[in-house]
Amino acid sequence: MSLPASTVTVERAGTSCTVVCGDSREELKAYRGQVDLIVTSPPYADARRRHYDSVHPDDFAAWFMTFNESFRGALKTSGSLVINIKDKVVGGVRHRYVWHTIEALAGAGWYCIEDYLWHKTNPMPGYWPTRLRDGWEYCFHLSKSKRPYMNQDAVRRPVGGWVESRLARLGEHDRCRQNSANASGFGRDISRWLNKRTVLPPNVLSLPLVGKNVGHPAVFPIDLPLFFIRLLCPEGGLVCDPFGGSGTTGLAALAAGRRSVLIDNNGEYCEAALKRLREETPAHRQPEHG
Ligand SMILES: C[S@@+](CC[C@H](N)C(=O)[O-])C[C@H]1O[C@@H](n2cnc3c(N)ncnc32)[C@H](O)[C@@H]1O
Repeated sequence: MSLPASTVTVERAGTSCTVVCGDSREELKAYRGQVDLIVTSPPYADARRRHYDSVHPDDFAAWFMTFNESFRGALKTSGSLVINIKDKVVGGVRHRYVWHTIEALAGAGWYCIEDYLWHKTNPMPGYWPTRLRDGWEYCFHLSKSKRPYMNQDAVRRPVGGWVESRLARLGEHDRCRQNSANASGFGRDISRWLNKRTVLPPNVLSLPLVGKNVGHPAVFPIDLPLFFIRLLCPEGGLVCDPFGGSGTTGLAALAAGRRSVLIDNNGEYCEAALKRLREETPAHRQPEHG
């Protein structure tokens, strides 16, 4: 159900989240050049036919490109676009509409900075004759410039106790770089780990699916947008989710202390988002490094 555009701002935890009920292609015009990070999960092709307008996989790339100008217009030059998405199986085989969409975006001038994977630690059970349980989704990081804003220190992790115990067992020989005997160029550089307290995380995010019913059929876990907000949006910056759904990105932005704007063209989902933003406690308020 689509409603006329309306805007409500929730102030919490020293920052704010604005929920705009409308079509993001129109509503983003009000945010021209202001957004540091768009992090979003668009409707999957045909996947939610009962819940909201769906697009046939063959038409998905062209449909997604109708958002291109508004996304580029809203993002700062230093900004990033993160798209969480997965190809659908059509007639027993993977349709490649996601690849076609990323190619179309690259053709329109976006830089493909990195492909992250969301590894689902609790994938849905089931039986498929030619496939196993589906345990991951893409998160594509695209940008307007080749060097978008990135604060790697904000997502560093503790190295863990194994480094000390492993290094304690190594001799002098093991602590310096060794080139392999066949000159392949591969070598160990164990000394790199000496005195390290934190390390960069990999580009695979292991997070469980959301079990709780929050009034929306396709909710992603708060930690997914939270990771990218910390990495790609400066403090004081503005985060946008143009397919806002139940407001998960807004909750993540509150937790990270960033301002945010969520846009959804379904009035019921905007109401669900406002309810969550007012009632759920912004978690994860850990200090960021760097
Ligand atoms: C996959 S859901 C997003 C779910 C969200 N990540 C969450 O955790 O709740 C995609 C959303 O895009 C919305 N949508 C579809 N077309 C839209 C448009 N043109 N403008 C704004 N929102 C749109 C749908 O109503 C739906 O809620």
